[in-house]
Amino acid sequence: MNRRPSVLRLVAGSALTVLMAAACTHSAAAPPELTLERGVLESKNGVVVSAYPHASRVGAETLRAGGNAIDAAIATGLALAVTHPAAGNIGGGGFMVIRFPDGASTVIDFREKAPLRAHPEMFVGEDGEYSFQIHHRSHLAVGVPGTVAGFALAHERYGRSSWQDLVDPSVVLARDGFEVSERLARSLEGRLEAFRDYPATHAQFSREGEPYRPGEMLVQSDLAGTLERIRDQGRDGFYAGTTARLLAEEMVRGGGWITEEDLARYEAIEREPVTGTYRGYDIISMAPPSSGGTALVAMLNMLEGFDVAAMEAGSPEHAHHLIEAMRRAFRDRAMFLADPDFSEVPVERLTSKAYADELRATIQAEAASMSAPADIAGEPGWESSETTHYSVVDGDGMAVSVTYTLEGGYGSYITVPGAGFLLNNEMGDFNGRPGLTDERGLIGTEPNLARPEQRMLSSMTPTILARDGELVAVIGSPGGRTIINTVLQIVVNLVDFGQSPEEAVASRRLHHQWLPDVVRMEDGYMTESDAAMLAALGHEISWGRGQGIAHCVFVDPDSGMLVGVPDPRDSDGTAAGY
Ligand code: DON
Repeated sequence: MNRRPSVLRLVAGSALTVLMAAACTHSAAAPPELTLERGVLESKNGVVVSAYPHASRVGAETLRAGGNAIDAAIATGLALAVTHPAAGNIGGGGFMVIRFPDGASTVIDFREKAPLRAHPEMFVGEDGEYSFQIHHRSHLAVGVPGTVAGFALAHERYGRSSWQDLVDPSVVLARDGFEVSERLARSLEGRLEAFRDYPATHAQFSREGEPYRPGEMLVQSDLAGTLERIRDQGRDGFYAGTTARLLAEEMVRGGGWITEEDLARYEAIEREPVTGTYRGYDIISMAPPSSGGTALVAMLNMLEGFDVAAMEAGSPEHAHHLIEAMRRAFRDRAMFLADPDFSEVPVERLTSKAYADELRATIQAEAASMSAPADIAGEPGWESSETTHYSVVDGDGMAVSVTYTLEGGYGSYITVPGAGFLLNNEMGDFNGRPGLTDERGLIGTEPNLARPEQRMLSSMTPTILARDGELVAVIGSPGGRTIINTVLQIVVNLVDFGQSPEEAVASRRLHHQWLPDVVRMEDGYMTESDAAMLAALGHEISWGRGQGIAHCVFVDPDSGMLVGVPDPRDSDGTAAGY
């Protein structure tokens, strides 16, 4: 197998460093050198932007070696499973949106699903009460993982490189180790105490109980073994044999319900994307079981009827119109969105211009609407931002937008002993219990209740923009429900305000999700006097930390150059290209 040297050296403590990596395997006719950049990177031949430099490097090396954007996306995703354990994964799931050079598009759904034993009351404890602990932090919180099946399906249908070449760089990263960044060291140290309850996790992510320091090598031998099985046996290396047995054994030990049968039955699904238009731009995004594409198109349709470009970016007027569109789309999300294989989801109606006209007519220019909890029974509270998004474009213009997750940071905290990968806690994205409401605003509507083999509702919104048949941008973000609004604002920044790619990603963001009826703004989103004006319209404002981490790629319409833009909110975000 092709073992590549670990050529990237992280410079501990440096904020903005150009990192060089030249794969030494090519000679005279070799393509241009690979460049890694913490900031904006322009490239002609292909760009990958992801949450960890080693992963972006692996993706760009895949392109450079002749792989297409799908190959690079798979290699990047597997490398993130090693280098970005909070969210990169093989024990979770997600979505891949693809636009081919001829303009056709498709999506791969590798969302986790509920095990065969699942039922709507499964998060109820022995006392007969709904249990947050069971729902979010237990072996019952683990959904049947989808990532490996999703990557295998994408590769089988559209890949060009050999599967082995896509998996092998991650085997090397896990087996030989990689340098821990400052951010990763901080993140692991922050969880060290919590990991004590999960011995395999504590052992894997500490140096014999001591926190890793920046620059130290993190070696994950059990994970390397699992990746070798995936490399050599394809999806069966995960869903059958040793890996499946180890996972099922851990479930039995911890009272979880996923069996080897559940794993064998898991299938990723290729679906039609959700599409729409916004002022002449084509929007290609994720279909249910994500609510992302549907809500995004619905909000853009509403905004299209306002002269947003005439508003000042970040002004009270701009914020008010965003918030009112968000309020309406998130109410519909809560009422209608779920796994389309289990209930009728009216995507066509929700994304139609005519429906947006109806909703827009209810928006007042100078007053906030009320969110009416009585319509349905409330909404869950804020979520963390521990998912990860990465974007890839190859030299032929094939674009791939991937968001995948373990749900919470480090998922369930459960590492499968002997197999070295973290399991998700994605079952927490199902509604807690039929009819349940509480002060924090859980909802108990029918469509998104846990049922055997149902996929839980998601907000992940990997998205691609095109115009007049040309690729414009590849966009996405982590952040739970805030994801949809982060993507929305990047599109508006680009289209309405003509911001540069860098500005469009860096600009401050806000979030409203219908319930709770509060707008959360990134610090500095607007001045205090503007905030007072917005509050006077009837909006309750809360200020918060960063929203989302949108690692994007844009195409410069004049030069045709690919522009990789890591979100400056992530100190490890890296663009790699050649
Ligand atoms: O699928 C979803 O929408 C969520 N599980 C994503 C989670 C996320 O972005 C991280 N924090 N909640």
